[in-house]
Amino acid sequence: MTVYALENSYGIAAGIARSIGDKLVQVEYKLFPDGESYIRVQQRPEGPAVLVASLYPNTDKRIFELFMAVEALRAITQDVVIGVVPYMAYARQDRRFLDGEPISVKVVLKTLETLGLDALIVVDIHKPAVLDEYWGKPYRNVLVDKQVADYFKGKLSNPLILAPDAGALERAKRVAEQLNADYDHLVKERDRVTGEVRVSTKEISVTGRDILIVDDIISTGGTMALAAKTVLAQGARSVYASCTHAVMVKGALDLLLSSGIQEVVATDTVPSPVSKISVTPATVEALKDLLEEVL
Ligand code: R5P
Repeated sequence: MTVYALENSYGIAAGIARSIGDKLVQVEYKLFPDGESYIRVQQRPEGPAVLVASLYPNTDKRIFELFMAVEALRAITQDVVIGVVPYMAYARQDRRFLDGEPISVKVVLKTLETLGLDALIVVDIHKPAVLDEYWGKPYRNVLVDKQVADYFKGKLSNPLILAPDAGALERAKRVAEQLNADYDHLVKERDRVTGEVRVSTKEISVTGRDILIVDDIISTGGTMALAAKTVLAQGARSVYASCTHAVMVKGALDLLLSSGIQEVVATDTVPSPVSKISVTPATVEALKDLLEEVL
């Protein structure tokens, strides 16, 4: 196998190559004076090609470079080409919320398929169902709940694992099961008369408990900060936050810490000051498993 790293994904690609004892190749990258990207795959793969590209900001550029790298690899090998995309961008635009909108994640997945990518590994994609809907080839969605739970084992007293909304409840449940803890989700209600937004837990009181709020993405930090302030105001003893993808636009971490969160923890799908959990071991396991299916 040969592992290829795109511009911003060298760390994870190197970890994968080291773990499976295979060759690592950095895809050549340049910027033309007008801002267009140039990439070149300088070496042909020996066996299957594994192309690692995490699509965090500058997102559109990263996506286009991935498209070009798949096209380039496809032209020089008959062997299997596998994409490892730890952070799949545009995954939150998974349906048409308003008429006339695109399903952006469909555009990304369908284009990768059309360009000839044979299989795909993603980490904790926002809505896993899009892989069955818009990606017609083998895939693995790597989950990191066990790693998140392991990080917090022994640190929380009388823990309650919370999802910031009902859609994220499954993630909270999976982490809670690993920690033998309770879980719940927050509910946002808007007063129809005053317009005031109220947030509360669905079932379980937070009073006196250590709360761990788990989400897939922290971007502006707004969702997590509101959730943290809410549970602290309702008597939580302390609040911790974890996410898989620390997209963290400028100012997000300050917002989180100023909302009273004790510690923020994320994986390294997007490098950040809080990326303390490596997704490499779980990704390597998924890759070995996927190879058995596609070879
Ligand atoms: C939304 O569905 C996601 O799961 C996250 O809750 C959301 O993307 C977080 O965004 P932000 O940090 O900007 O509130």
